[in-house]
Amino acid sequence: MSELNKIALQIISNGKGILAADESNGTMTKRLEAVNVKSTPENRLSFRETLFSSEGMKDYIGGVILYDETINQTSSSGKSIPDLISSTGVVTGIKVDTGAKDLANSPEEKITEGLDGLRDRLKQYYSLGARFTKWRGVYSISEKYPTKLAISSNAHALARYSALVQESGMVPIVEPEVLMDGNHSANICLNVTSEVIRKCFEELIIHKVDLSGIILKPNMILSGNLSKDKISKEEVSLKTLECLKNSVPKEVPGIAFLSGGQSEVEATENLNLININNNTNFIMTYSYGRALQQSALKVWSKNIKEKEAAQNTFNHRAKMCTLAAQGKWAIELENK
Ligand code: G3H
Repeated sequence: MSELNKIALQIISNGKGILAADESNGTMTKRLEAVNVKSTPENRLSFRETLFSSEGMKDYIGGVILYDETINQTSSSGKSIPDLISSTGVVTGIKVDTGAKDLANSPEEKITEGLDGLRDRLKQYYSLGARFTKWRGVYSISEKYPTKLAISSNAHALARYSALVQESGMVPIVEPEVLMDGNHSANICLNVTSEVIRKCFEELIIHKVDLSGIILKPNMILSGNLSKDKISKEEVSLKTLECLKNSVPKEVPGIAFLSGGQSEVEATENLNLININNNTNFIMTYSYGRALQQSALKVWSKNIKEKEAAQNTFNHRAKMCTLAAQGKWAIELENK
């Protein structure tokens, strides 16, 4: 077993999942202002430290993805944030892309940037304690999109990123996110997501990336948020499995879904059904941002000095997601 494969398995085995706390300062500002908290470096750290020092970390979370600001911050106990995270047995990760920018010659689409100088930034993140990384490509669906140009240029960037990350001794999370915005059907999402993922693996293979040392972070197969043709959760799980079975090489150890705007319970229920119906050898777990943090953020915002209530809310959510990653979740458990 390669070292990278071991790290990947450490993060996602036994029902553990990933806390995606890697919102950029811009996104975090929106999240904090939505609950009437001023977005300062201290407040951003205070919320994140509340989660990182909760009980649920050691029982349910295998990895945390940080943003550049946070990995360089010091906790109230004087420990660095990566040290605080590793003291709970959790692996530290870091978002290394620098965001999605307009794609030349198709400016309504996005290309994710951040390759320039990446090798040196990776060395620095490794020395700070990071052992895995994240890069997100983003694609939208409409009659015209995504174009071949967006699909191939983002796949190429994800592959170059992954090769550099493995060279530096870390596990790359490969995140091609097909957005749920729009009125498309679930079948269109299935076709587009399958094409996007296949292209990513085509490029990863060209770039000689060790597929046993990555984690794929895809969207689930859902109909667009404006579509009138909603499908059942059972169908979501079956279509998601069909997509991944047909587009992900078997060497990949695991898949950690993004929540992508689903509610907390919806993202949990869909993951649970994916695991109940899982007819692949892939570990299927979560790498949620909003679907792990939303309720905890609301509770925390009521009194940011009082950590316990927010921690209890986070512990419950993480427990529910971990049960779902084992196919053991049930709606009745939500109110216990
Ligand atoms: O890149 C997106 C995040 O890592 C996951 O966030 O679960 O809120 O979609 P989300």
